[in-house]
Amino acid sequence: MFPEHRPRRLRSTPAMRRMVSETTLRPRQLILPLFVAEGASEPRPISSMPGVVQHTRETVRKTAADAVEAGVGGLMLFGVPETRDATGSAATDADGILNATLRDLRSDLGDDTVLMADTCLDEFTDHGHCGVLDSAGAVDNDATLERYAEMALAQAEAGAHLLGPSGMMDGQVGVIRRALDDAGYSETGILAYSAKYASAFYGPFREAVDSQLRGDRKTYQQDPANAREALREIELDIAEGADIVMVKPALAYLDIVKAAAEVSPVPVAAYNISGEYSMVEGAAANGWIDRERTILEVLTSIRRAGADLVLTYWAAEVAGWLD
Ligand code: PBG
Repeated sequence: MFPEHRPRRLRSTPAMRRMVSETTLRPRQLILPLFVAEGASEPRPISSMPGVVQHTRETVRKTAADAVEAGVGGLMLFGVPETRDATGSAATDADGILNATLRDLRSDLGDDTVLMADTCLDEFTDHGHCGVLDSAGAVDNDATLERYAEMALAQAEAGAHLLGPSGMMDGQVGVIRRALDDAGYSETGILAYSAKYASAFYGPFREAVDSQLRGDRKTYQQDPANAREALREIELDIAEGADIVMVKPALAYLDIVKAAAEVSPVPVAAYNISGEYSMVEGAAANGWIDRERTILEVLTSIRRAGADLVLTYWAAEVAGWLD
């Protein structure tokens, strides 16, 4: 008899397919990034990310509470300040938009969710780089570390459970861990953006945070051509005290997610970033793809590659579908 082997048997009915399905997608595995704009009187749409807004300090509270109610695993906060300067002062101001919002959300939600913050200066600097610049205009690694340590303390004090250093400075995880421990915040954790690539897919995010950047981030973010250094960065971050490591972007880097998942003794997150979101939303709006099926396929593929957690702008909506 031919064919001798019939893999289609296990695909024959919905019950059969459900029974042998390998990869789970649960609301608790999804983390919702949120943008909060200082001085905004109403939410501002982000034109390149249809459906995503810059929240006001008030509207973010309801959206965050609804997402937690829908079962998402956590929230990642980004601040959009009204004024920027060379050192990103607003990032370390206790009343700055990001720290003030963290305080609001921690008071609203307590420990019912995992509250996270982007620990990076690019939203706060007038030149748009993730660090401070030296006299020649280059990003000064070690001077930036001092600012990250100060920023980490401000965010921990404001109530973040996990800090997300995303600037790809050498030593950033170690310096933040030491600053937290020295100040008595030994319970505040670090979700390290360990393998973060210099990607064109960040495009829409630049609009989302009104980025001032001219030029690029290629002296600190990784070259998309390289895989090995991702593993080195992950190893270093774990040695420096990362509680969770992250690969970013996700879709064009599923090989890196898989390699990270194979070696990491700590949970692995992947960030399904702005450009990945906008590609799907743009194609769906044109009727070129089925939006819901595509979103579920994207998120499932990131989980299948080995990510324990996925940061995605669809987190709350998808959590509702999965319920
Ligand atoms: C840096 C940061 C960026 C993103 C998250 N944190 C932008 C960058 O590195 O250029 C991008 C997230 C996204 O594109 O969805 N603070």
